[in-house]
Amino acid sequence: MYGRRNTFNLSLYGLFLIYFKCSSLAGVKSIGHDTTVTNGGNATLLCHLTETEENLTHIVWQKHTRGNPERHTFFIIHRDGKTEHQSYLQDKVKFVGDIKEKNGSIRLLGMSLLDDGIYTCIFNTFPSGQILTNINVTVHVPPVGKVRGSTHVAGHYDVTLSSCVASNARPAAEVLWRLGALNDSLRTETRSTQHSDGTVTVVTDILGAPSKPLNQKKIQCVIKHSTLTKQLELDYVINVHYPPELVVIIPDDPTEAEEYHCLVDCNPTPTSYIWIKVNGSTPHSEGNKLFIPKSSSDLNGVYICTASNEYGRVSGVLYVDNTGSTDICWGLLGLISSCAILGFTVVLFYTVSRAQEK
Ligand SMILES: *[C@@H]1O[C@H](CO)[C@@H](O)[C@H](O)[C@H]1NC(C)=O
Ligand SMILES: *[C@@H]1O[C@H](CO)[C@@H](O)[C@H](O)[C@H]1NC(C)=O
Ligand SMILES: *[C@@H]1O[C@H](CO)[C@@H](O)[C@H](O)[C@H]1NC(C)=O
Ligand SMILES: *[C@@H]1O[C@H](CO)[C@@H](O)[C@H](O)[C@H]1NC(C)=O
Ligand SMILES: *[C@@H]1O[C@H](CO)[C@@H](O)[C@H](O)[C@H]1NC(C)=O
Ligand SMILES: *[C@@H]1O[C@H](CO)[C@@H](O)[C@H](O)[C@H]1NC(C)=O
Repeated sequence: MYGRRNTFNLSLYGLFLIYFKCSSLAGVKSIGHDTTVTNGGNATLLCHLTETEENLTHIVWQKHTRGNPERHTFFIIHRDGKTEHQSYLQDKVKFVGDIKEKNGSIRLLGMSLLDDGIYTCIFNTFPSGQILTNINVTVHVPPVGKVRGSTHVAGHYDVTLSSCVASNARPAAEVLWRLGALNDSLRTETRSTQHSDGTVTVVTDILGAPSKPLNQKKIQCVIKHSTLTKQLELDYVINVHYPPELVVIIPDDPTEAEEYHCLVDCNPTPTSYIWIKVNGSTPHSEGNKLFIPKSSSDLNGVYICTASNEYGRVSGVLYVDNTGSTDICWGLLGLISSCAILGFTVVLFYTVSRAQEK
């Protein structure tokens, strides 16, 4: 995009040259080059005279910039190579050309947005007079990239899941999201704000309905800008909150289980686990762990683990039988073969019963 603009500038510039060549001085050509510099950098403004045997008396540089829109002289190069500059430009401007070669090039140090503007190089010659060349100096500012986002609760309506911001760049930065497989389920929206200093802030939002499958998915924002040698890549992990949906109770050991773990799928992780024994006294438990010593057959029975987070709760059921009877195995869904192979006496039955609080 930027390259295209340059070409455009150059062709316009060509017209400019022809204009001077034709209208003021036949045979004399002054050549300058538009230039772009990154904020804080140094700019070399090239300007030289060709095809003339005329004597140069002095070279004058004028400018009108964002910081000072009135055209004024800021630098003079005399025939003997001595230079004069406006006091505030102390150490900021240097003559780098060669007066004998009719090269009036200068270098400007520490350019800022206020220095952005049109610079004019004026060759004062004898006998022809003044030959002017305008040079556009554009100061570019790299963007400051940032990704922001917040946690959303699973729902059906589209929300802004995350925003990628490229602040205060000149010209505007290009901001896009790499969504990978989420490409189809999410969409993006871009908006930009123009600031008075000439910079632009671009924000690209990611929109979509927050859902459990989006939770912990990684996406990446890419910021491209002419001042950046390497594009900025900012990672973001989507965070969606959802109520407990599934409970699995697993033994710590397939044959010698004495401890059972209640595993729950939800975000955030459950704030509480409650274990009860159906028709029994409160079992020995700690958080999501239930303790049942293998030796004690009086602990046989049905146990329920209820896990909850701020969005809801869900329960899972565990059948424990330490008597050695295999009959119970037969009554269980799909666990028959496990029972036979392992020969264990503890039987597990996984179930889900959802009690969601809205
Ligand atoms: C230089 O800048 C001026 C003002 O922005 C614009 O009109 C002109 O076309 C530019 N010239 C070139 C050669 O780019
Ligand atoms: C600009 O020029 C100064 C003086 O020559 C030099 O110290 C500095 O490193 C230059 N800055 C850049 C960005 O090239
Ligand atoms: C340029 O200056 C030289 C030396 O001062 C002089 O001999 C010559 O005639 C001048 N040329 C013109 C075109 O004025
Ligand atoms: C003029 O001087 C600059 C700075 O030294 C140099 O880069 C440029 O090539 C010179 N131009 C010509 C036409 O010699
Ligand atoms: C994303 O989807 C759009 C159209 O839906 C497609 O044009 C684009 O190539 C896809 N991008 C990726 C990275 O899959
Ligand atoms: C709990 O007790 C009730 C009534 O005393 C009985 O009907 C039920 O079967 C018992 N449940 C279990 C799992 O033992």
